[in-house]
Amino acid sequence: MGNRSADPVTHKLILAPSLLASDHGHLAAALTEVEANGLSWLHIDIMDGHFVPNLTFGPQVVAALRPKSDVFFDTHLMLENPVPFLEPFAQAGSNLISIHVEPDYNIPGALDRIRSLGCKNGLVLNPDTPVDEAQPLLHQVDLVLLMTVQPGFGGQSFRMDVLPKIEALHSFRRANGLDYRIEVDGGVDARTAPLCRKAGADTLVAGTAFFRPDGRDALMAAIQS
Ligand code: DX5
Ligand code: ZN
Repeated sequence: MGNRSADPVTHKLILAPSLLASDHGHLAAALTEVEANGLSWLHIDIMDGHFVPNLTFGPQVVAALRPKSDVFFDTHLMLENPVPFLEPFAQAGSNLISIHVEPDYNIPGALDRIRSLGCKNGLVLNPDTPVDEAQPLLHQVDLVLLMTVQPGFGGQSFRMDVLPKIEALHSFRRANGLDYRIEVDGGVDARTAPLCRKAGADTLVAGTAFFRPDGRDALMAAIQS
C-alpha cells in the first residue's frame, strides 16, 4: 500500500451489497445474506423513471425492511427532484441518503436537510460528470459516490475511465483535511474492487458480484486480501 500510513484518512473498507441484484420476491432474505457474510451495510437503489429509465423501491419498502435488521441502510436516490423524498426515506429508516449532483435543485440545502433529519449525507456523480462539479460541496458531505456505470441498471461493465476521478477525490480529501468516504457503484467485482481500493475508494457497492453465487466467493476474497 506504499505510503498509505502517511494518509490521515483511514476509513475501514466497507462492502455494501446492492439490494437491486437480490431476489425481489424475498427482499428480507438479502438482509440475512448480508449479515451472514459479516457485512454491515446494504445499498438501496431508488429510481424514479425520469432521472434514470427504471423504477425500483419506495419508502414503504425501506420501512418494511427496517425492523428486520440493524444493517446500515445506504440509500442512493436517483431522482430528478429528491427533495420531497428526503424526509420519507429518513423516516423509513435510512442511515445515509445520497443525492445526485446533475439535476437542478438546491443541492447544498438538500445536503443540510439530510443531516438535520439525522442521516449521513452523500453526493453522487455520474461517470461523465467531472469532479469539479462536486468540489464546492465537498466540505459538507459525509460520502461521495462515484458511479462507475451509467445509473439505472445492475450488471453493467465497470468504467475504467472513472478511476482517475477516485484518485482526484482521494487527493483532494487528503490535501484539505476532509474525511468523506469515497464510494464506487457499478460493475464492482473481484477484478475491479482492488483497482478501486488502490485508487482511494473505501466503500464498494456490489450488486451482481455479491448476489450471484458464482461471484461472491471471489469478491469476498478480493476485498480481504
Ligand atoms: C445502478 C445502481 C447500482 C447497481 C450496481 O444504477 O446504482 O447500485 O445495483 O449493480 P452491479 O454491481 O451489478 O453493477
Ligand atoms: Zn446505487
